[in-house]
Amino acid sequence: EHISRVNTGLLQWYAQKQRDLPWRTTSDPYAVLVSEIMLQQTQVDRVLPKYQQFLTAFPTLEALAAAPTADVISVWVPLGYNRRAVSLQSIAQQVISRYAGRIPDTIDELLTLKGIGRYTAGAVACFAYRKQVATVDTNIRRVLHRLFLGLEHPEPKVNDAQMLTLAEQVLPPGEAYPWNQALMDLGATVCTSNNPLCMNCPLQTECIAYAEMSQHSLFPSGAVL
Ligand code: ADE
Ligand code: SF4
Repeated sequence: EHISRVNTGLLQWYAQKQRDLPWRTTSDPYAVLVSEIMLQQTQVDRVLPKYQQFLTAFPTLEALAAAPTADVISVWVPLGYNRRAVSLQSIAQQVISRYAGRIPDTIDELLTLKGIGRYTAGAVACFAYRKQVATVDTNIRRVLHRLFLGLEHPEPKVNDAQMLTLAEQVLPPGEAYPWNQALMDLGATVCTSNNPLCMNCPLQTECIAYAEMSQHSLFPSGAVL
C-alpha cells in the first residue's frame, strides 16, 4: 500500500545517496546531542567544522559541564544563536545532577531536561539509542506533508501534534534510524523548501503534492509549495 511503497522507496534511495555525516557514525549519545543542538538553526555545511572543533574542546559531557561558560560560547560563536551553547551546557549539567551523567534514552525523560524539545528528544532517542520513535523538524514536516497530505501552502492541512501522529503512523517498523535520517536528507537535497527537484525524487510517483502540482499545471516551475 501507499505507506509501504514510500517507506521502501525512500529507504532504498537513502541506502545509495545518504550524506556522509560524522554524527551518523558515532554511537556516543553526547556527540549526537551536540550535533542535534548545533543543527537546530544552522545548515549542515556550517555545522560540520564546528562539530569536530567543539568535541575536541569538550570531548565529554563532564568536560562540557565543568567548562567556563565563556569558553563554551567562544567555540560556538561562528554558529550564531549563542543561547544554544549556554543551553547545551545547561543540559550537560542537568544530566549530571539528575541522571548521574547518562543522557536519558526515552523521550519522556529527555523532555524533563530544560532546553530539550520534542524534536531533539526524538532525535537523541532514535539516533543515539536506536529507539523506534518519530521526530519532526521543519524539514521532515515539509517532506511528510507533501508526500502524504499534498501541498502545504497556502494552508497546511495539519497542526504540529497531528503531524507527529502522522510521522508515527508512517514510521517503518525497525527502520526508524535510516527513515528519520532519510527524510532529512531528502528535505535538504531534493524536497527543498523552494524549487524542489521533483525530477530527481525517488518518490515522485508516490507524492500527493506532486500529483496536485501536475493537476494544476504548477509544475515544473513556478510552483508554490
Ligand atoms: N538536521 C538535524 N539533524 C540532522 C541530522 N542528524 N542529519 C542531517 N541534518 C540534520
Ligand atoms: Fe518533494 Fe517533489 Fe519528491 Fe514530492 S515529488 S517528495 S514534492 S521532491
